[in-house]
Amino acid sequence: MLIKRPDDILPSEITPRELFERRREFIKAAGAFALAAGLPPLALAREAFPSLQKGAHSTLEPPNSLRDITTYNNFVEFGFGGKSQPAERAGAMRTHPWTVSIEGLVHKPRTLAIEDILKIAPLEERIYRLRCVEGWSMVIPWVGFPLAALIKQVEPLGSAKYVEFITQTEPAAMPGLRLPYIDFPYTEGLRLDEALHPLTIMAVGLYGDVLPNQNGAPLRLVVPWKYGFKSGKSIVKIRFTDKPPRTSWNIAQPDEYGFYANVNPEVSHPRWSQEKERRIGEFFKRKTLPFNGYADLVAPLYAGMDLRKNY
Ligand code: MTE
Repeated sequence: MLIKRPDDILPSEITPRELFERRREFIKAAGAFALAAGLPPLALAREAFPSLQKGAHSTLEPPNSLRDITTYNNFVEFGFGGKSQPAERAGAMRTHPWTVSIEGLVHKPRTLAIEDILKIAPLEERIYRLRCVEGWSMVIPWVGFPLAALIKQVEPLGSAKYVEFITQTEPAAMPGLRLPYIDFPYTEGLRLDEALHPLTIMAVGLYGDVLPNQNGAPLRLVVPWKYGFKSGKSIVKIRFTDKPPRTSWNIAQPDEYGFYANVNPEVSHPRWSQEKERRIGEFFKRKTLPFNGYADLVAPLYAGMDLRKNY
């Protein structure tokens, strides 16, 4: 993967919580200004999630700082030039109006505006670990709802076995689209039972606010037991299929990135071990847990499968 390993992160890069609090004050003021200026509703969605339900399955580990989460990113549409590039460039992406088309093997195909998607199910805070295949991890307080609630809306046919996620291409805002390495649009896929699993969410925010563009605004998949690359950002289309969808990293480097991509310390990436990870902001590495620590909840999905072959 062109994405690099993070041996360069210093503990001093951790940002104190106070900075985030100050940002909230700023956002409140900006929201009042937007209201006066008649800006679109999603711009006002900042601070729109004040009374979130506490979702099940949240980790008790302390979340990474807002700064870590929003300035250390992978989003190749904005370039391959380093972790800060998405934060520097993604502001140019238009996220409103935004619709998501849900199609393929379903009884009720639909095109939903993001405003309607926000109403599908009560929003929850889910604090999940994210483990990147590069060897770093974070804890992120997402705002989202179970993907299963969205799937229910379209009533998949009995023949639907997989779900494909297709993400935004906006050439004027995304210089990375011109690079030959990935066959854009960036796509990801899940088995239908993985997509329906209660741990799988569609994220619309983090730390109580709408998603910053670099984290996949306005709608992003989060599958916490899989490597981070499975979590497609800025989704515009969801398609139900009977065959495994082709996925961007798998097309780019099939011997390195399989369809399943479950976090597995026993299966090394061909160029590095997956046994340990560095939590962003920490100095010492920690052991990587099978299924990123969610084995009790998801291991049964793979009963009887050879997880070395199905990497
Ligand atoms: N989604 C899109 N559309 N484009 C991308 O390049 N990168 C993936 C995933 N989703 C990516 C994407 C990878 S490799 C990772 S590790 C995670 O997003 C990173 O999410 P984060 O930047 O919010 O930590």
